[in-house]
Amino acid sequence: MADASSVTNAPARGRFSSRSGFILAAAGSAIGLGNIWGFPTQAAQNGGGAFLLIYLAMVFVLAYPMLVAELTIGRLSQQNPISALRNLASGPQTRRIATVGGALGVCALSLILSFYAIVAGWLVAYMLAPVCQLLGLEELAGWFTGFSSSRNLAMMLVIMLLTILVVRDGVSSGIERWSKRLMPTLLVLLVVLAVYILNQPGAMTGLRMYLQPDFQQISPDLFVNAMGQAFFSLSLGVTGMMVYGSYLAKQENLPATAAMVAGLDTLVAFIAGLLIIPAMFVAQQNGVTIYAADGSLLSSDTLVFTVLPAMFDTMGSAGPFLAIGFFALLTIAAITSTISMLESPVNMACEQFQQPRRKMSWLAGGLITLVSATVVLNFEALFGLVITATTVYAQPLLGMLYALLLMWVLKRDRLLNELKQGFPELETSLFWKIWPWYVKFICPLMILLVFIH
Ligand code: PFF
Repeated sequence: MADASSVTNAPARGRFSSRSGFILAAAGSAIGLGNIWGFPTQAAQNGGGAFLLIYLAMVFVLAYPMLVAELTIGRLSQQNPISALRNLASGPQTRRIATVGGALGVCALSLILSFYAIVAGWLVAYMLAPVCQLLGLEELAGWFTGFSSSRNLAMMLVIMLLTILVVRDGVSSGIERWSKRLMPTLLVLLVVLAVYILNQPGAMTGLRMYLQPDFQQISPDLFVNAMGQAFFSLSLGVTGMMVYGSYLAKQENLPATAAMVAGLDTLVAFIAGLLIIPAMFVAQQNGVTIYAADGSLLSSDTLVFTVLPAMFDTMGSAGPFLAIGFFALLTIAAITSTISMLESPVNMACEQFQQPRRKMSWLAGGLITLVSATVVLNFEALFGLVITATTVYAQPLLGMLYALLLMWVLKRDRLLNELKQGFPELETSLFWKIWPWYVKFICPLMILLVFIH
């Protein structure tokens, strides 16, 4: 297996051509269904503004420091995640732990891709359904919106194919190029839809619910949910960010760049809240049921695939176009994330087996497609299981392991020298006074506490 010492015979690796390219690609990884779907529904169910406040705190005190840590691990060695983690080791014992931790991270990420591609496929289907309706193809529209293994398989294949085609073309001509196209489109779509919805009758009730904190809802559960949401949203703990960090030029200021990524991610989650929560109350105003029998707000899949489409149906001739725009927004958000999920296994396969990227993209992408197809065909048994195993367990625990390796095993002066390259005044900065001991002690402790709970 390759490690730091064999860097000289590693194949030529890609690199982001600009700082903005990196920021858009990393924000593309971070901004996904977690922001546009997960965050607003969690906020709606957990006291609106109260969840928003706790979430912001979690991003700031836990997720951002961990993001800097993961990006640093990648950039330090500029190698694939397994080699990057092994590069932190101080002896055979820690090298073994690093290898296992890296391999588990890449596996967990591949599993995340296997369920995420299925969900992303549903979004493509719901985007195509109104197009079919406009063309009078009612039967096809029904197939797109009905739950069936054939639909799930076909749509998942579309997502996997698009993802493979982008990753195959490499870091700057695939990932960076597409991130630069898709991310601005996503932002424009999001803002246009939010402004439209906020101007509809009923929207202000939703806005109030979103922005007025209901402090009575603050509970330990709310902290657990907010932490999980922040971890998922910043793509932490499963080597996705590590591999992007490994493509970042040494002269870039890592803490500042990571702050841009976390800031963009949080901004998009916030704006998505301005779209989704008011949209629920616009739907209610238009006669759509938004509360379940037990009085809770309808959420997750019911919200996205029942409540919102029903609302679009009540919006006259604008309805189908709004529906297409909304599901296009979700699809774009999902694809920039699936790209980052495939990159890590592909990069690892290329460097560990010294094979060309094109071949490894098809191979790794093909294998993950097979796993995803298995999940589709055993949906009841596997879908929820894979989500829980990866997002509830793997992400926080592996994230904690990576932080521990960086802070407890790596020599402090190597860490300092790495970060100083893009940040010469690091040693005298507030960041350096707080961040190292913070990631060393507080972050692992917080994760452990929340996890035990
Ligand atoms: N951050 C993505 C989202 O919010 O939907 C999901 C994700 C992407 C998780 C990449 C993990 C990952 F490595």
